[in-house]
Amino acid sequence: MKIFSAPLQGYTDCAWRNIHSRVFAGTIDCYYAPFLRLEKGAFRNKDLRDITPEANSSYRLVPQVMACPREHFSVLVEKVASMGYREIDINMGCPFPPVVKRHCGAGVLPYPEEVKAMLAVLCEYPDVAFSIKMRLGVENCEEWRTLMPIIAAVNPVHVSLHPRTARQQYGGEINMEQFGRFYDEAPFPVVYNGDLRTGDDITSVSTRYPRLCAMMIGRGLLYNPALAYSGNDARHKIMVMHRLLFEYYRNHLCGDAHLLAKMKSLWEYFLAETGDRKCRKKILKSSSIEKYNAAVEEFWHSLNND
Ligand SMILES: Cc1cc2nc3c(=O)[nH]c(=O)nc-3n(C[C@H](O)[C@H](O)[C@H](O)COP(=O)(O)O)c2cc1C
Repeated sequence: MKIFSAPLQGYTDCAWRNIHSRVFAGTIDCYYAPFLRLEKGAFRNKDLRDITPEANSSYRLVPQVMACPREHFSVLVEKVASMGYREIDINMGCPFPPVVKRHCGAGVLPYPEEVKAMLAVLCEYPDVAFSIKMRLGVENCEEWRTLMPIIAAVNPVHVSLHPRTARQQYGGEINMEQFGRFYDEAPFPVVYNGDLRTGDDITSVSTRYPRLCAMMIGRGLLYNPALAYSGNDARHKIMVMHRLLFEYYRNHLCGDAHLLAKMKSLWEYFLAETGDRKCRKKILKSSSIEKYNAAVEEFWHSLNND
């Protein structure tokens, strides 16, 4: 079964992807970049730099676009296609309330005519393949039903479904019953996405749905970057990944405060539920790089005592 790395805005940036793909080479079939969008009508250089083919040359990358307002959709597709990409992922899953309110991200799901109008742009790009990343609906977990023929008509390479509503955001029960219906009825390849945290989770979903074209993992790879790795030196590799991320951000971010904030944000997920809780707290509360490094050292020792 193929494994995809899900887009996680603020986490799976180009540095994370490069380092992950180097340390855990061969474990991920495709990395999906966090959504590209226009801000106040313009692209941010930082966002474009993140997806240049040169900076992402050592793995397969599919950029994602999220148009908000949706009138930006064709500008976004045009930009990504002009960078040479021949596959683009369309965000129809972002549950952030201000986005949803504007009928963008997952907010478009209850409006089939708006989905149709947005996807109509794709006919202008016959040499670009499109995938869609979506949820079950906004409030109603059966909104996908009306959309299925509209989506099928644009012939997506696949649709990744996170079986929650936008209202649920990233918590609450995953709706496997609705996922099963979507999987049974979809005339296009389906990718499962949601709450895959362990190797057993991956095995059980892929066994239950053998026709899936891939499993997409988001937070699971932040919790455990070795999730799809089967070697017995996973812990060592995780430490290497941490060191490389630290070095990269130390060289590219401005000053200790920025570096500390970035590293601490990674630890909101990194190895949660593992190691000594007090050490973790120390990392998250560290007020200087020296204290951060000392707390991380202590954390690694606590893992050895597990
Ligand atoms: C902090 C954060 C940022 C995210 N950014 C994106 C994004 O840019 N594009 C997208 O399609 N989904 C985004 N997602 C959703 C994830 O890709 C994924 O669908 C979701 O986390 C559920 O999968 P998981 O349980 O494996 O994490 C984000 C989720 C989180 C928690």
